Amino acid sequence: MKALFRKVDSYERLSQLAALEIKKKIQKGNQVNLGLPTGDTPIGMYKELVNDSQLDWWNVSTFNLDEYIEISIDHPESYQNFMNRNLFDHIDIDKFNIWFPHLVNDYDGMIDGLGGLDLTILGIGSNGHIAFNEPNSPFDSKTRIVDLDEQTIEDNARFFNSIDEVPTKAITMGLDTIMKSKEILLIAQGKKKLDIIQTAMFGDITEEIPASILQNHENLTILYCE
Ligand code: PGA
Repeated sequence: MKALFRKVDSYERLSQLAALEIKKKIQKGNQVNLGLPTGDTPIGMYKELVNDSQLDWWNVSTFNLDEYIEISIDHPESYQNFMNRNLFDHIDIDKFNIWFPHLVNDYDGMIDGLGGLDLTILGIGSNGHIAFNEPNSPFDSKTRIVDLDEQTIEDNARFFNSIDEVPTKAITMGLDTIMKSKEILLIAQGKKKLDIIQTAMFGDITEEIPASILQNHENLTILYCE
């Protein structure tokens, strides 16, 4: 394992540092393929990126990690909508370079064909999921439709009027897809996330804790704040 764990003292700092990793990639000027997450944690990071009006997105393609499949794309909680609201509507990115797993038949093949993911930003679920790879997802999994774990449905109920409205299925990048990313940055906030990070990074590498596969990644950084 070659993981770097950085605890920072505020969510603002975490957001700045995560955005900085993305900016560094973009500013190199080469074509860059980013794997991007949704959820509460990356919102500050997206704000930082939006606030940098100098950032030139011409060389960037984005590949979102996942999307619900039982709600319309126009639903405020669809991940496509989340991304438009928090990032894409505010930056000068070519809309043809924005990709979601439900839009492409062979997401993995497409990503490979474009040279693979250069940097993937991940959150982590309280059950150890990354993207929507729930406990017991195969380590060799590719992009596919999955049933959401009960814990995930409970955790995501805060975004909906009631738990009954939370979709029970999603399409997600697989663990194999994510592990092929040249660099991974996992961002997490709160004590509950620290517990699962510790289990994932120092416990057994097991499909019961999908994030534990990250122990095998060669270029992983974990950014954490309380
Ligand atoms: P969060 O979600 O950023 O809203 O905590 C992370 C995740 O479930 O992957």
